[in-house]
Amino acid sequence: MAILYALVARGSVVLAEFSSTATNASAIARQILDKIPGNDDSNVSYSQDRYIFHVKRTDGLAVLCMADETAGRRIPFAFLEDIHQRFARTYGRAVITAQAYAMNDEFSRVLSQQMEYYTNDPNADRINRLKGEMSQGCFDYTTAGDYLRCVGLRMPWSYTANMPKVKSNF
Ligand SMILES: *[C@@H]1O[C@H](CO)[C@@H](O)[C@H](O)[C@H]1NC(C)=O
Ligand SMILES: *[C@@H]1O[C@H](CO)[C@@H](O)[C@H](O)[C@H]1NC(C)=O
Repeated sequence: MAILYALVARGSVVLAEFSSTATNASAIARQILDKIPGNDDSNVSYSQDRYIFHVKRTDGLAVLCMADETAGRRIPFAFLEDIHQRFARTYGRAVITAQAYAMNDEFSRVLSQQMEYYTNDPNADRINRLKGEMSQGCFDYTTAGDYLRCVGLRMPWSYTANMPKVKSNF
């Protein structure tokens, strides 16, 4: 799974963006910014070919990313939330009056770094895998230890020895 492109914008004014591959994501992202109705906070996803564009708008600041379909929604939105917080914390009220690309030199590096992190970091991936496997199965276990093994986690043996039997019931 991969996050391939991201931008931060106020309305349709792009303040920073980064692309890890040559795509027309940038053009499509602009069309999407224009398409999101109103000014309210929102979390939306649009699919385009094999890719999904995820957008999180909070207090007028939109953070958008393009991810492949296999990335699901959880990790892309965790990424968007992370970027929003970093951006708001770093620039504060300067965001309100900033010109197009005002933060690009500095912040495109942060976008690049965090895209890399959410694409490759095993911690981000473990959460994703856990969730995926929970929704696909792991219902057929009889002990808590079996369940944790099924979702890819391990318990210290001293706990598993005395674990009560549990029946999956969800
Ligand atoms: C972007 O590229 C894809 C194929 O690579 C094409 O289908 C799509 O129409 C293009 N979109 C824009 C907005 O140029
Ligand atoms: C968007 O998602 C966040 C959690 O990521 C949630 O706290 C927020 O309420 C959502 N906003 C809207 C408008 O749905």
